[in-house]
Amino acid sequence: MNALSPARLRLGVNIDHVATIRNARGGAHPDPVRAAQIVAAVGGDGITAHLREDRRHIRDEDLARIQASTSLPLNLEMAATDEMLDIALRHKPHAACIVPERREERTTEGGLDAAGQHNRLAPIVQRLSDAGIRVSLFIAPEMRQLDAAIRLGAPVVEFHTGEYAHAEGDARAVELKRLADMAALAARNGIEPHAGHGLTYDNVQPVAAIPQIAELNIGHYLIGEAVFVGLEHAVRRMRELMDAARG
Ligand code: PXP
Repeated sequence: MNALSPARLRLGVNIDHVATIRNARGGAHPDPVRAAQIVAAVGGDGITAHLREDRRHIRDEDLARIQASTSLPLNLEMAATDEMLDIALRHKPHAACIVPERREERTTEGGLDAAGQHNRLAPIVQRLSDAGIRVSLFIAPEMRQLDAAIRLGAPVVEFHTGEYAHAEGDARAVELKRLADMAALAARNGIEPHAGHGLTYDNVQPVAAIPQIAELNIGHYLIGEAVFVGLEHAVRRMRELMDAARG
């Protein structure tokens, strides 16, 4: 274990796409609650779920069911809207990660503009924090956005790893360095850095090796792998790769 590392790199499993498959047929199967229970059984550290404005995957009733069915902490990804704030305050998840949301996007395509939306975000960060919910801001690994997160008093930032995941060769090395530099800067400012988006067996290890990063949130790839090898195996394999990178 690197001396700078948090005790253990946590793995939060985003189970949204179990609900995507369920919703494709409109019934109850496959149930994201069962996915949450499997994640808990195989050593996942948390469940991440994004309640989107259009409810395309996770639905309101799923949140309570997930919370009731596993003791793992729930990390609720939410847009900075009054509706989502009310829902978060009602459900009181362990953590809330504020993400940008555009209805027409297929996934969360970029980081939150924390710098440009300070006035919108400040009361939301405050009210979530007052309710004992650990707030995280999903931002690009950029100085301007990290500065904004510091000004907002967010205890956690999650760095969007999409640019890193999509880059190749030298460009990927540049993106990795950006992540490492911003993670170190976040930690120096008392902010716990997390990372996620587009992480796979093939690209997770360099990110997992960044010593300050405390948590990775991974969804789409794991649920896709689960179709072939089962969720249990997919989570275990990701865990092994993360541990090997950190060890
Ligand atoms: N973290 C956040 C804040 C996200 O919004 C998402 C989903 O876009 C993820 C992590 C997981 O990304 P992926 O599904 O690509 O693993």
